[in-house]
Amino acid sequence: MKKICPSVLSADFSKLEEEIREVEAAGADIIHCDIMDGNFVPNISFGPSFVSTINKITDLPLDVHLMIENPSKYVYEFYEAGADYISVHYENNIHLHRLIYQIKDLGVKAGVVINPATPANLLMDILEHVDYVLIMSVNPGFGGQRFIESVIPKIIQLKTLINARNLNCLLEVDGGIGLDNIKQVSDAGADMFVCGASVFKSDNKAEAIKKLKELVS
Ligand code: DX5
Ligand code: ZN
Repeated sequence: MKKICPSVLSADFSKLEEEIREVEAAGADIIHCDIMDGNFVPNISFGPSFVSTINKITDLPLDVHLMIENPSKYVYEFYEAGADYISVHYENNIHLHRLIYQIKDLGVKAGVVINPATPANLLMDILEHVDYVLIMSVNPGFGGQRFIESVIPKIIQLKTLINARNLNCLLEVDGGIGLDNIKQVSDAGADMFVCGASVFKSDNKAEAIKKLKELVS
């Protein structure tokens, strides 16, 4: 079953509870939480206490995407805050294998993220150790950016690799996904779709989720 993962970064924080309940009722599968530190990416978002608040509002699994320096220092705090999935970037983690097992040893699903300019073949050795790969289809830092088309061949390439090696590894795609392109991303091989603006900035969030789900089912 393919999964729609609304990103709360694009929610109206003054109505956080209402908006999360609305997407949950509409059939969202996972809540995506973007953690930004103003160093690894230019923007600053929120931290573990905010994730813990989201965890109190919803029963849905929480997918925590760490766009921060020194993620190893904060993994336990996000686990305690209720993270069910934690992903870390390939680009700023020298001891990636150790970090992935730091996450997995907590019983949390561990993912590796690659930016649009990072080639898929750099994941060759870590692939068998991760529960999912998160492919960025925008440069990380902000919601509402335009989908970068050139990541489509990368999704196909990774899916082919995963299938050829018979790995139990899901593919998540993040950035600029909406009604106009979700089918193309799904057909390329994605299993999980992060949708920020296309859900939370929509006039009818329930309808947006329903249509997104239809397009990938
Ligand atoms: C970007 C974040 C995304 C973002 C997606 O750095 O990782 O998760 O919130 O938002 P949209 O779907 O609006 O591009
Ligand atoms: Zn994200």
